Amino acid sequence: MKNKFYITTPIYYVNASPHIGHTYTTVAADVLARYHRQLGDKTFFLTGTDEHGAKIAAKASEAGQEPQQFVDLTAQEFQSAWKSLNISHDNFIRTTDPEHIKAVQAALRFMYEKGDIYLGNYAGLYCRGCEQFKNEKDLVNGLCPDHKIAPEQMSEETYLFKMSKYARELLVKIRNDEIKIRPEGRKNEVVSFIEKEGLQDVSFSRKNVKWGIPLPWDSSHTSYVWADAFLNYLTGLGWQGPKDKCPEMWPAEVQLMSKDILRVHATIWQAMLLSLGLPTPKELFIHGFFLVDGQKMGKSLGNVIAPQDLITRYGVDGTRYLLMSATAFGSDGDVSWQKFDDKYNADLANGLGNLVARVSNLLEKNNITLNIKISASDFKKDYAAAMQELKLDRALEILWQVLRRADETLSARKPWELADKEEIKKILEPVAQDILNVAELLQPFMPETVAKVIKQFSEPKIKKGEGLFPRV
Ligand code: MSP
Repeated sequence: MKNKFYITTPIYYVNASPHIGHTYTTVAADVLARYHRQLGDKTFFLTGTDEHGAKIAAKASEAGQEPQQFVDLTAQEFQSAWKSLNISHDNFIRTTDPEHIKAVQAALRFMYEKGDIYLGNYAGLYCRGCEQFKNEKDLVNGLCPDHKIAPEQMSEETYLFKMSKYARELLVKIRNDEIKIRPEGRKNEVVSFIEKEGLQDVSFSRKNVKWGIPLPWDSSHTSYVWADAFLNYLTGLGWQGPKDKCPEMWPAEVQLMSKDILRVHATIWQAMLLSLGLPTPKELFIHGFFLVDGQKMGKSLGNVIAPQDLITRYGVDGTRYLLMSATAFGSDGDVSWQKFDDKYNADLANGLGNLVARVSNLLEKNNITLNIKISASDFKKDYAAAMQELKLDRALEILWQVLRRADETLSARKPWELADKEEIKKILEPVAQDILNVAELLQPFMPETVAKVIKQFSEPKIKKGEGLFPRV
């Protein structure tokens, strides 16, 4: 029986344009979705944008726009970036969608009527960048370490979510991998956090933030932006609220994100699901965080890398390849234009591109007929194991070992120096076969390139095609 595979990315804040970090998560999710579709699994891939809250309202007002007008523009930027990168999401959810808003209101009402949301007061330090309350000890020199701004002291009437009620149940589920958090080190961080600090009730509404979803029973409050945002993972599947049945694709097999938002996902989101009586996701996978030339990306540093910058220089599939091979999936990485250029030239221009050109050129020149089809290969098993474990960079490395071996065979046996057509064919046929087999497995990563190569190498008379990756 085929499996189901539901994969999500975080929904990105629309206070700024998409950058390489968002692109990394989204391409990775796309690779996994395409891989599972190729296996025949029933697959759903959701991404989208997170559009409410104080931070976005402030940005809109800075830009002199109404919030809705502002979020429409930035959401459009995300959508067109994903379109140019060949992202194959099945839905793009926006938290300003009326259907999403209705379902969020129904969910919060359900939790309120259950007694899991109650009126109280909350005093604490709030970081607008994170849209989260902070403890003194989370700060470095009084500043939020992620946003380098001083959090505001807030004290107001608020509705609180009784997260404390679910602490024990959650800890058990995370410990025994019912909610798997990977890599293992990330799981340990969450477990020791909950063990040490427990789970406090969280402020779930804001009185002075107008750009949000009004609470259905008290419209002087809007929903806490994270409560609204988490529910996208359900509303993106068409879920209309607790009266609706659990969507067929829920729970997610994999929820992808980076470490910046792990804690809230491992605590608040899971507790909300328990409160709603819905299953928890199978796995949260925490991939690495990119620094650019060793520094956090930021407008002030002028080092933000936008997806379009990458596409212009390396093409769509070049960009996808460079991102997926940039660092071990699950470990932080340092990227730079120099590293991207070097890797592009080595692996794509001089690697895959050159091999395909050399082999097809020799076949055409010597008028050799081949009849090869995608076939079983010894490396497919290792590749599949890497993909199942979400070792995306490793899966690529396995394929590149095959390509490098093929290159070495050519360099050693020099078919271009031979005159006998049969001899030449004997050398080229297995290499062409490897190219075809690698291409099939490369499909989730580089769909356009692969379509070209498979077409080219499935003809009996293989012809030299256009160059795949011009050097930079
Ligand atoms: N809106 C919230 C998420 C709500 S999900 C219910 C949010 N948005 S965000 O725009 O800040 O996106 C954060 C996510 O973007 C990270 O978890 C990661 O997936 C991706 N990345 C953003 N910057 C990144 C890097 N520098 N490196 C790698 N991925 C990064 O948080």
